[in-house]
Formats: sequence, structure tokens, C-alpha cells
Amino acid sequence: MKKFNRRFFLKSLINISLFSLIPFKLKAFSLLEENCETTSDIQGPFYIENPPNISILTPPEITSNFLFITGTVYAKDCKTPIPNALVDIWHANKGIYDEKSNTYLNSDYKNDFYRGKVFTDSNGNYAFQTILPGKYLNGIIYRPSHIHYKSSYLNQNEITTQLYFEGDTSIETDPWASDPIAINRIVPLEEDAENNLHAIFDIFLDVNPEEIENTDLKENKIIESIYPNPINSNTIIHLNNTNITIDICDINGKIICKKENVENNIKITNLFKNRLPKGIYVLRAFKNNKAIDAKRFIITK
Ligand SMILES: [Fe+2]
Repeated sequence: MKKFNRRFFLKSLINISLFSLIPFKLKAFSLLEENCETTSDIQGPFYIENPPNISILTPPEITSNFLFITGTVYAKDCKTPIPNALVDIWHANKGIYDEKSNTYLNSDYKNDFYRGKVFTDSNGNYAFQTILPGKYLNGIIYRPSHIHYKSSYLNQNEITTQLYFEGDTSIETDPWASDPIAINRIVPLEEDAENNLHAIFDIFLDVNPEEIENTDLKENKIIESIYPNPINSNTIIHLNNTNITIDICDINGKIICKKENVENNIKITNLFKNRLPKGIYVLRAFKNNKAIDAKRFIITK
């Protein structure tokens, strides 16, 4: 029996209900200018200003079963990566926020785990090493496992939101995670051969592409964007260079396919003939046999 796919089901419902209300010309426009902007969510009471500038959020005694989260911060055109965007996250450990959260002013910040901020690299990418957050009670109902996010660019266009994980049985009863606007913030988890979990969360800020400052660090940037991601048959890989060799690896590093002299703006499905199983994959770009750029993408169905 075909597995029930809640993400697809909810997306279909949303699309049907919205599309039936707008005239044809607007429909055509919305297909071209897809609204990718990341939706917001509540901040909650556990945010602490000025978190440490770190990407490894786990204490030293944790040496396995990590959660690795990566993603790219994009502008409102859904495809222009934003370098130097701020990504600030915080979450509970096994079920509570770090005990120092409540007495932060008297605490040693170096011991305050599961919170931190990074700035995206020249390709708009960010990454964190942490653990899967535990659940905690909100009244008599458990909140689903979630990670709080704040993201902004040059101290403007800040978004505050939360990330949830597919298959979490507490999502349905949580008023924020079950809100239809959260659907693109419920992401799949993939487990690698070493029992680490991986997730991808791309963030789309309300920033005009022309407002993004040029940096001098773009020489290693080839893959502009992979969008939409999770991928579908319309997903395009935007490259900013020619004569590029591309390959695709699974999360354990096994190369699935390789293609030389890839043209710009190609459909991602042109890189592999057969359907790939659900999961997280890495697209790598090579020039002169040297891997110089990579981005992750998800297949969810
Ligand atoms: Fe929370």
C-alpha cells in the first residue's frame, strides 16, 4: 500500500484551496514567482541575546548520534544565495533548555550548549553540529522536537521561526507545528552509516537580490542554487560557470552518478535516469578535477 505522505497531502490541500480563488493570470505569475519565503513561528521564552559564534553546539562528552543541519540562506527570488547572513539557533536537549538559560546572567556562557550563531559562507551556506532536540511539555501536551531559528541579513529582514521533523507524532497536537504555514518547515531526517542524523533547512529571507553586497570570496562558488529543494521534476540547478563536472553522492559518500560538461540551468533529474530513493544527497561541482563547491538536496518521495 502506498505510504500516506502528510507533507504532500497538506501541500495539495493548500494549493487546491488557494488556486481556486485566484484568476488565471495570477496563477501563471505565482507559478513563475513561487512564494518561497520562510514562514515565521513563535520565538518562545528561551531565547538569549548574543549567543556564542559557534557551529558545534554539543558538549565535548557527546561523541556520537549527532544531528547535522545544513542549508542555504536565499533572497526573495528563491535562488540568490546570501553570504554573511546571520543564522542563530537554539533548542532543548533531552527535554529541557540548558539549565543555565534561566540564570544566564550569572552563568559562564562557554557552558551554555545547544545554542549558537553562524554567518553564511560566500555561497550562502550554513551548518551546525548538534543533537536531535527532545520534547518538553507545553501545559499537558508535548511540543514536538523543534529547533528555534532567527535569521537576518545586515541586521534587517529578520525572521524568527522553528524547524520540525517529519514523522514526529507530536506535530498533530501542536498548534504551531500543525499550522499549514509550517508545512515547509517539517523536514525529513536521514540517518547515515554511523547513526548520525542529517537534515537540510534552506531559509528564504525577504531580501531583494540587488541588496546583497558583493563579496570578494566568490571564486569558489559554482552552484548558485538548487530550487525547489526538496527536489521535484522541475528543480533546476543554477550554475555560474561552464564546463563543470557534477557528481551526486549519497549521505555516506557513495557516488551515484557523474556528468561532465554540464550546462547551466539544468534540470536536476537530467543527472540521473532512474528514480533515487528518498534521502539526502550531495551535489558536488568539479573544475579541473578538483571539487570546489557542494550543496545538499533532499528527495522526499
Ligand atoms: Fe522551544
